Amino acid sequence: MSPSSGGPSTETIVAGSREEQAAMAAELLARAIQEAVDARGVARVALSGGTTPCDTYRCLASLSLPFRQVAWYWVDERAGDPGSARSNYEAAARDLQLEGGARGRVFRMESEAADLTAAARAYEALLRRTFGVASAVSFDAMTLGIGDDGHTASLFPGLGVVAIADRLVAAIPEQPAKKLEARLTLTAPVIQEARLAVMIVRGAGKRAPVAAARQSGSEEEIPARLLQRAKGRVVWVLEKEAAG
Ligand code: 6PG
Repeated sequence: MSPSSGGPSTETIVAGSREEQAAMAAELLARAIQEAVDARGVARVALSGGTTPCDTYRCLASLSLPFRQVAWYWVDERAGDPGSARSNYEAAARDLQLEGGARGRVFRMESEAADLTAAARAYEALLRRTFGVASAVSFDAMTLGIGDDGHTASLFPGLGVVAIADRLVAAIPEQPAKKLEARLTLTAPVIQEARLAVMIVRGAGKRAPVAAARQSGSEEEIPARLLQRAKGRVVWVLEKEAAG
């Protein structure tokens, strides 16, 4: 895999095991958190869902960091009860032990809203308010995953959503053919603005989408290609099966 098949600051790390992958990804996030707190007094971190980042989050929670100065946000969320097993908030809150306030401020997406378009607008307003009107919405760190179909965040292929550039947050309709509920997601411009994006991928089944995401071509076909236009640092932390 060519290390140059990405944006100007794209790196690839291949981990020999899932434990090593989690430790490497957590270390990258930890450094970004510490640097942001040292530089600006706060670290703003956006979390993806899915199964892959769970042990990275557990590993991160075990490190000694200025957690009270971290603000946690979500990259995307699945429509439904925030306490459900499908909730990205619930999974990350469990693995990062976010309950109780000792780990900083928590800004979850309103997955239970009847009107997800209004919930997307509300989350955008929250981003603008908490980042401050004078600063861009640049997350200090962000976790991402990739789906078999090349989606990242909840920017799925074939829906025209990876091209959304007039909003920070979008509501994505449900996709019955894929048995997927509606979603809320940060849009490509916000993902591309992150100071650090850590793409965590495991399993041989992800080899093809990983390779496709790193080739040039249509973002509508493979939305994870949006990372090729990232302004910040992108690190692909691949478990060896996913790297091929
Ligand atoms: C989600 C996501 C999504 C995820 C990928 C990979 O809520 O589903 O944030 O973009 O990162 O689908 O998911 P896995 O880690 O489960 O393979």
